[in-house]
Amino acid sequence: MNGERALRAAVGIVGAGPAGLMLSHLLARAGISSIIVENRTRAEIEATIRAGVLEQGTVDLMAETGLGARLLSEGFVHHGISFRFENRFHRIDFSALTGGKAITVYPQHEVLKDLIKSRLDAGGTIFFSADRASLHDLDSDTPSLRFVSDNHAHRLVCDFIAGCDGGTGPARHAIPDTAHRIFERHYPFGWFGILAAAPPSSPELIYARHERGFALISTRSPTVQRLYFQCDPDTSPDDWSDDRIWAELHTRVSGPDFRLHEGKIFQKGVIHMHSRVAEPMQYRRLFLAGDAAHIVPPTGAKGLNLAIADAFLLSRALAAFYGTGRHDLLDTYSTTALHRVWRAQHFSWWMTAMLHRFNDASSFDRRRQLAELEMVATSHAAQTLLAENYVGLPLEERPRGLCPLGTPARAWGPGPHSFGRR
Ligand code: DHB
Repeated sequence: MNGERALRAAVGIVGAGPAGLMLSHLLARAGISSIIVENRTRAEIEATIRAGVLEQGTVDLMAETGLGARLLSEGFVHHGISFRFENRFHRIDFSALTGGKAITVYPQHEVLKDLIKSRLDAGGTIFFSADRASLHDLDSDTPSLRFVSDNHAHRLVCDFIAGCDGGTGPARHAIPDTAHRIFERHYPFGWFGILAAAPPSSPELIYARHERGFALISTRSPTVQRLYFQCDPDTSPDDWSDDRIWAELHTRVSGPDFRLHEGKIFQKGVIHMHSRVAEPMQYRRLFLAGDAAHIVPPTGAKGLNLAIADAFLLSRALAAFYGTGRHDLLDTYSTTALHRVWRAQHFSWWMTAMLHRFNDASSFDRRRQLAELEMVATSHAAQTLLAENYVGLPLEERPRGLCPLGTPARAWGPGPHSFGRR
């Protein structure tokens, strides 16, 4: 076979991010083989700074499936957040509003370290630094992945492919344009994110709305803080000295009742804001999960949590298929996942719209925005809505009633699933 190395697995997974690694982990627990193909190095993945807030369901899933050791001892449980506007704090008590649920601050790259270690310790296969991954034979019963690793061409033949390779990977581009629909929205601003060596300024996260724009005070540890502020998406981090960054943050959040603790800034970067959904999240035997299928703006930290929820739903559907031949959960994977995805899209958009400065906003819009924040600060009902969404909707919530998203026909055929169980 023209020098290609042949590989087989039940599920070929493109991408070693949260969705791909969690999927591989959950499949292994169900006795289903998978191989992950990833273009970055392990070191790169483990060093990339992303968000750091885990929903209750994400924490529970990790803990229940053997990934809880570091998370439960090193993560920080937060029972609420504060909104700050017009120089005043308004606390939202998640635990009181959601029957005891909370969020855990634990950085995404630490989740990835735990997942990678767990997969490798369990004998799982991850091809890091794989080049030129491409998807083939999607219309057949045996789709395949081709890639180059260690200067050797590889061909991985599988029953199913999971596209977990983010917004720019090859998986979603392998779907014909006519077979799915993209919904998207760009925001005319970005977030400037920093890591600073400083003590925490607040025991809980602060989401601040200010005339100059949004700011977010988050944390990583007793000695490292994560802070963000709304910025021009084209601004260059090099144009921002430490002094300029602290001055901007102080203007947006400090007041007579509150002072930020400063420290040396050792990481800075600009995050772009974008909402996107691809529907359906399936094309024949290719299933999309995580950012390959949907992107949310960072406000509310839903991205990682959605990826984990997708992995859970897809692993459950595949486990049912290999366990009993049932294919109904695979058939409805996209519809079930999209239901949750759109709820998170709405939440992320709502938090973004409620807290950011929009340059084209009229004076009416600004007053209306403040009225909305006032509603969240004072209405128990509004706070409950926010808290339920922030701590995370149930992983397994099924669509009720009519769902406009359309269930894709079972388009992957009944053919052989030869590589199923190990
Ligand atoms: C963080 C990121 C977010 O997008 C958010 O809403 C809250 C916290 C973080 O990186 O800590």
